[in-house]
Amino acid sequence: MDVVRSRAELRRALDGRRRPLGLVPTMGWLHAGHRSLIAQAHDECGAVAVSIFVNPRQFDDPADLARYPRGEATDLRLCADAGADLVWLPSVDDVYPAGFDTSVTVERLTLPLEGAARPGHFAGVTTVVAVLFGIVRPDRAYFGEKDGQQLRVIERMARDLGMTEVVRCPTVREPDGLALSSRNVHLAADDRAAAPVLHRALLAGRAAWKAGERDASAIRDRVAAVLATERRVAVEYVSCADDVTLVELERIEGPAMLSLAARFGPTRLIDNVRLG
Ligand code: PAF
Repeated sequence: MDVVRSRAELRRALDGRRRPLGLVPTMGWLHAGHRSLIAQAHDECGAVAVSIFVNPRQFDDPADLARYPRGEATDLRLCADAGADLVWLPSVDDVYPAGFDTSVTVERLTLPLEGAARPGHFAGVTTVVAVLFGIVRPDRAYFGEKDGQQLRVIERMARDLGMTEVVRCPTVREPDGLALSSRNVHLAADDRAAAPVLHRALLAGRAAWKAGERDASAIRDRVAAVLATERRVAVEYVSCADDVTLVELERIEGPAMLSLAARFGPTRLIDNVRLG
């Protein structure tokens, strides 16, 4: 596995790679969720590149950026184990060279949910992903369904700008249902024990939908009722939105994304399931 840092090294390492080339963009502190993205790319592509870059532009809170976990040596081991051919670890200047003055924004899809809670976050995500796509020029890029709105926003951008094929990959969960996230490491022991309530709540909402409930506020209430059984959780939102537009629904008549954001102490977690 090649490990490269500058854009020039990356260019050389990409030269002559088998196609299709798969890209797995990450911010490091890799876990089994990333491993499954790399493994899927390995199965489906001629070569797999992984980028590891903690993107300052997508953090609305400097304290959140400062405490973002990092672990290069373990990340590289996981990439090699999972079947990556190349890992790119650029510096901030490699990604945003002096004079960088471009922002890529997806409009309506970024207004609700995480976009409302974290101003500027999605412009940071789409700008960095556009830069990564532009430099690596992958045929396919792999993203997890756990960040449901991010996935839809990147799909929209890639389609609108004719970039690359975006491949959706299922959320990987702990045996107790907690979605894997680099942020889980910050959970205190009691909060970690309580956090599976998020998935239980979403499953309760989905069970109501499966049983025939189509009133979106009844589904949201069902999710909120399960969350309310856990005193350690501070709920930010529960959403039942159109799966494509992410507009909040009154009645569920087609595919929907049931999602939530909640805090356990200082740690903010998100999760979602699809209805239909
Ligand atoms: O999901 C992430 O890890 C990041 O938002 C991404 C897509 C790598 C962009 O920095």
